[in-house]
Amino acid sequence: MEKLGLNEIRSRFLKFYESKDHYVGKSASLIPRNDKSILIINSGMAPLKAYFAGTETPPKKRMCTCQKCIRTGDIDNVGHTARHGTFFEMLGNFSFGDYFKKESLTWGIEFLTEHLGFTMDKLWATVYLDDEEAIGIWKSLGMNPDHIVRLGKEDNFWEIGLGPCGPDSEIFYDRGEEFGCGKPDCKPGCDCDRFLEIWNHVFTQFSKEEDGSYSDLSHPNIDTGMGLERMACVMQGTDSIFDVDTIKYILDGVVEKSGVAYHDGAEPTDVSIRIITDHLRAMTFMIADGIMPSNEGRGYVLRRLLRRAARHGKILGIKDTFLVELSNRVIEVSGEAYPELVEKKDYIQK
Ligand code: ALA
Repeated sequence: MEKLGLNEIRSRFLKFYESKDHYVGKSASLIPRNDKSILIINSGMAPLKAYFAGTETPPKKRMCTCQKCIRTGDIDNVGHTARHGTFFEMLGNFSFGDYFKKESLTWGIEFLTEHLGFTMDKLWATVYLDDEEAIGIWKSLGMNPDHIVRLGKEDNFWEIGLGPCGPDSEIFYDRGEEFGCGKPDCKPGCDCDRFLEIWNHVFTQFSKEEDGSYSDLSHPNIDTGMGLERMACVMQGTDSIFDVDTIKYILDGVVEKSGVAYHDGAEPTDVSIRIITDHLRAMTFMIADGIMPSNEGRGYVLRRLLRRAARHGKILGIKDTFLVELSNRVIEVSGEAYPELVEKKDYIQK
């Protein structure tokens, strides 16, 4: 596989879907609009819920985006593991009552094999229990039937907060036996590190209501999500998101500033270096979108990130202020895709 930079993968994805007649949307702000069910945008579909529900008209029935996202549910794992982060980018293609399963999965495989260089023997798919239609499509696309795994609601049904949701089919990349647990029945869904989920295709047909019930949406939709950092790990042959080109550039800044060497996660100080790296990304983007540190809601999330990053700076022995200086690196590597970072640079740093 060609070693592609994170920024290059993003741009190939958006160009590919543009060639399939999709409107290339800008990432929405991290602050949700008219949605009380979430504090911060946490997936590509979150800012598009009204288009799925049919209460607002999208610019086009086919759309693709690279959406900035924050999820802090696993914040305590950040730094301790290779792939947890609070900030990430999600690539997605969306259909609002236009195409459905067949096109979504077909284009997904076309993009992976013809534009990123994946081979079918390394790909696996999970499907929701009795989704025979998805299984049939996967087979017709040349997926080895032994690589198609049926899983239940916990794994193959997407919902977050209220609103549009539905069964999904996830594409996994087989990193090879050497990453596995060695059990004969090891496959996607196994706890070990062999199979990496790279792309979720959600067949958004239902709406989750406040009382917990599901109602049918007026039209079926497609919502897909591919974690850009994780895909960059695969394309760059690295185990950890902190070794991905653009993220490593920020991490190198932390190393330079602190004078503490980084050992790929093996030392306690590595955890601090990774936490600062991750939080710098999250904070820079949050402030650019107008979030201010405070005692509640989103502002509290930002304040917590800020304090954690500062504390880990102390652990590394950094004496002066350092977050402002290092935010330059976030702006440098992401400023082209997110011009708001460049436009608001002074504001963010102030
Ligand atoms: N909304 C789906 C996800 O985030 C695609 O996985």
